Amino acid sequence: RRLLGTAGAAGAAGLVAGSAAGAFGDQAVRDRQAPLTGVGSASVAFHGTHQAGIVQPAQAHGHLAAFDLAPGADRKAAAALLRRWSATAAELMAGQAPKGDDTGIALDAGPASLTVTFGFGHGFFDRTGLADKRPTALDPLPAFTGDALDAKRSDGDLWVQIGADDALVAFHALRVLQKQAAGAARVRWQMNGFNRAPGATERPKTARNLMGQMDGTNNPKPTDANFDERVFVPDGHKGADAWMAGGSYAVVRRIRMLLDSWDNLALERQEKVIGRRKSDGAPLSGGTETTPVDLDKVGPDGALAIAGDAHVRVAAPASNQGAAMLRRAFSYHDGFLDDGAPDAGLLFIAWQADPLKGFVPVQRKLDRGDGLSRFLRHESSGLFAVPGGCAEGEYVGQRLLE
Ligand code: HEM
Repeated sequence: RRLLGTAGAAGAAGLVAGSAAGAFGDQAVRDRQAPLTGVGSASVAFHGTHQAGIVQPAQAHGHLAAFDLAPGADRKAAAALLRRWSATAAELMAGQAPKGDDTGIALDAGPASLTVTFGFGHGFFDRTGLADKRPTALDPLPAFTGDALDAKRSDGDLWVQIGADDALVAFHALRVLQKQAAGAARVRWQMNGFNRAPGATERPKTARNLMGQMDGTNNPKPTDANFDERVFVPDGHKGADAWMAGGSYAVVRRIRMLLDSWDNLALERQEKVIGRRKSDGAPLSGGTETTPVDLDKVGPDGALAIAGDAHVRVAAPASNQGAAMLRRAFSYHDGFLDDGAPDAGLLFIAWQADPLKGFVPVQRKLDRGDGLSRFLRHESSGLFAVPGGCAEGEYVGQRLLE
């Protein structure tokens, strides 16, 4: 029994079970007819030119999972999996229970801004006989001197990014997709992240990372004239990877923060390392959070207002021949290490039309002379081709797999 069908309506009513109505009883269905308000009711459309989960603000809860195809799983099996996953993601993002066997984890909740995003890793193309369609942009990232990468928590044939403003909604999506992968693919690694919950601040603000800084201020904005060009593969993209039109490349790095060292640094030094004030994110060259950074400004003492090795100087497009990316990260905390230091940091996700004009040159530069790098360890890495979105009745990756 489907009570409500569209994303908007489902958002107002909570997660509505199809076959699950019987399984969970009529009372549960009656309870869910009361309209939801606030966080639970917000929904994001699954279908569209681009996949969801790129331009929308990062949600309060995130799961990143990489899957490897099962031995013997071929292109047909991969296509069937992407078809199944896409149909389910569309249902869940619209606030509907997945068809068939459901666990009930999200039964009382609305979609809570759930997004599910799918990508392909380098190995996917060999395993499915599609090596001739693999984009050169998926060539392995170069090694960086600061890398301390764990291969078991890096790469993977398939990548799934899940975000939602409710923790149960996010886990539910992960669990459903993992169950559906059985026989075709299994989890290679999985990471959990978080951000500030909507409504936690007096007005929407740039979220802070675990070093305490406002993070994301100088991201490319969808209203920028060159936003699409920087973030998405163009529509008329030609060649063996024409299937990537409307898609984007995600660089995923698990970056541990050396918080014991960082937290011992005086505030003034911390601000110098970044080039922005901690309290309000304003650049040290003056103004408020949104004032453009003035990299040339010299202070009364004759020194550069933004230090030579300040993170915002070294990472800025102006220092990297225009290279830019959309950073959409989750923080993570996985307990404490043997020495008592938090195992915590950033699940850094950078989105760009071409990693060679985004992450790679910027990280090369940061690796050589960024004041922040000595407080960070890059512990895992992945690069994924995230195809464009699909229309109703289609599935993500169809242009590659059909
Ligand atoms: C800016 C923190 C890693 C690229 C910033 C800002 C902060 C920050 C606080 C200033 C506010 C803003 O504009 O968002 C961090 C932390 C990192 C990290 C804590 C690691 C845990 C990286 C990496 C890259 C990167 C790995 C790319 C390879 C950038 C860029 C900017 C930026 C492009 C904007 C610079 C500008 O144009 O003003 N980061 N960052 N960051 N970061 Fe990072």
